Amino acid sequence: MSWVSDYHYKWYETLAMNVVRAGGYIPRHIAFVMDGNRRYAKSQNLRKIEGHSHGFEKLANCLRWCLDLGIKEVTTFAFSIENYKRSEDEVNGLLDLAREKFQKILLEEQKLNEHGVRIRVIGNIGLLPEDLQALIAKAMVITEQNGKLFLNIAFSYTSRDEMTQAVETILKLGDELEPSDINERLLEECLYTRHTPPPDLLFRTSGETRISDFLMWQLSSTILYFTNILWPQINLWNFLSGIFAYQRANLRLDSFKRQKRLEHAQLAKYSNYYSLRVQRFLQSLDCYRKSVLLSLSTSN
Ligand code: FPP
Ligand code: MG
Repeated sequence: MSWVSDYHYKWYETLAMNVVRAGGYIPRHIAFVMDGNRRYAKSQNLRKIEGHSHGFEKLANCLRWCLDLGIKEVTTFAFSIENYKRSEDEVNGLLDLAREKFQKILLEEQKLNEHGVRIRVIGNIGLLPEDLQALIAKAMVITEQNGKLFLNIAFSYTSRDEMTQAVETILKLGDELEPSDINERLLEECLYTRHTPPPDLLFRTSGETRISDFLMWQLSSTILYFTNILWPQINLWNFLSGIFAYQRANLRLDSFKRQKRLEHAQLAKYSNYYSLRVQRFLQSLDCYRKSVLLSLSTSN
């Protein structure tokens, strides 16, 4: 199964996509919590890992729908740091699935480039086996020139860990910083999502109405959409229901969100807003992350 599926729309699905597009507000950035894979597997008498594998296929469908609606950025929760606590069998199964899918990115480079998909993995990838770290880094490096759809895969991720890592980064690279430089803006710049605007819509399946330590900083003004459907059962109609919910909510929140977006744009990287000291720190952060990625991508 490819990362971007070759979904064939029925005529009435094309019509529905056009209606949604005509509705105006399309989220720029959508985040998915793909929940319910194991319950789906159980309901179909499948092994847990098969539920996750079906889940991946639905992710590929969602990416296709997002591309076709003109959504620019998708962040998806594929593996939480909490998931390491699951049975050894399941964790190894999920890591093997990830190996297979990141390997696939290397094989599908041309297709991803045609679609303009840039892959970014957010998370504490140092916790992962070394071979998987190298595959992830390679996938990020070979797609880094693409800019039509940013796909951020949260893997070995929790929000609390992301914030903890941000503080560690400041301590590690920020020897020139003054205490007065430490504020919300600086901390936000040290998150894994430094180059990503916050999600407009969070979409969670399986009837759970929790955030589960996902993008807690970034979701402060995001519209939340919960549906009872299990992730491997998601279809175009469920997906579009989420977009409709977003469009309805956005009518009320329009001016608020415009203001937020403006604020975010003003904080864009290296803006004059920052002192030279902070700009130097942010430059060294980008260089550091880039060099870690390059060295991982050439290992193994
Ligand atoms: C949550 O369902 C899902 C996961 C923990 C894994 C999600 C992973 C995929 C869909 C595969 C994607 C892989 C890559 C490499 C992007 P659950 O296990 O919590 O199921 P439950 O809620 O029914 O117990
Ligand atoms: Mg679950």
